[in-house]
Amino acid sequence: MLVTFIYLLILFLILALGVIEAKHIYSILINKEVPYIRSGSKIIKLIVQENIFKNGAIIYDLGCGDGKFLRELEKHGQFELIGFELHWLPYFIGRIINYFSGSKVKIQRKDLFQVNLSEADAVFCYLFPEYMVKLENKFKNELKKNALIVSNTFTLPNWTLEREIKVKAHPLYNLSHTAYIYRV
Ligand SMILES: C[S@@+](CC[C@H](N)C(=O)[O-])C[C@H]1O[C@@H](n2cnc3c(N)ncnc32)[C@H](O)[C@@H]1O
Repeated sequence: MLVTFIYLLILFLILALGVIEAKHIYSILINKEVPYIRSGSKIIKLIVQENIFKNGAIIYDLGCGDGKFLRELEKHGQFELIGFELHWLPYFIGRIINYFSGSKVKIQRKDLFQVNLSEADAVFCYLFPEYMVKLENKFKNELKKNALIVSNTFTLPNWTLEREIKVKAHPLYNLSHTAYIYRV
């Protein structure tokens, strides 16, 4: 009886995960949504080393995936770190990692375009060019003066860049990575 119950529970979880993932894959392919790809450790390390975030700062990751960037940042200062993630799978993975690592990073399941940015001192994102175009006005209207924007890989096309951080290309497969820093 118990074995049947456990078997059915596992089957149900697999099916539920399948449905969630099918919906996610549909959104990526049809709605051109940004997939769950974590920022690389090297670019995160270089951003953190820049010491651009002041202690006490409220920092958002818009489309935080499992919260990797914020958890790394947590090791280097006293910040209030909040990630917003639309999709269940990265959201759950992030919550589980946070639980087992004792991280204080908050992850909320929310559409990044619905997040009010007025409290944030800095935002981080790793999205797509289409998202960056849409975010330009939101950043201008909602972020406080002097707030920082750090974008992995994609620029804000109509903003003036403050500086950029580059991970050198790997000699074998010529992949470089750049993070772009803007200030409101
Ligand atoms: C390329 S990943 C970056 C993850 C994380 N920021 C990092 O750098 O490791 C982009 C994430 O944004 C999420 N995402 C896409 N559209 C979103 C939306 N409208 N609101 C919130 N999250 C979204 C995706 O599910 C994905 O996990």
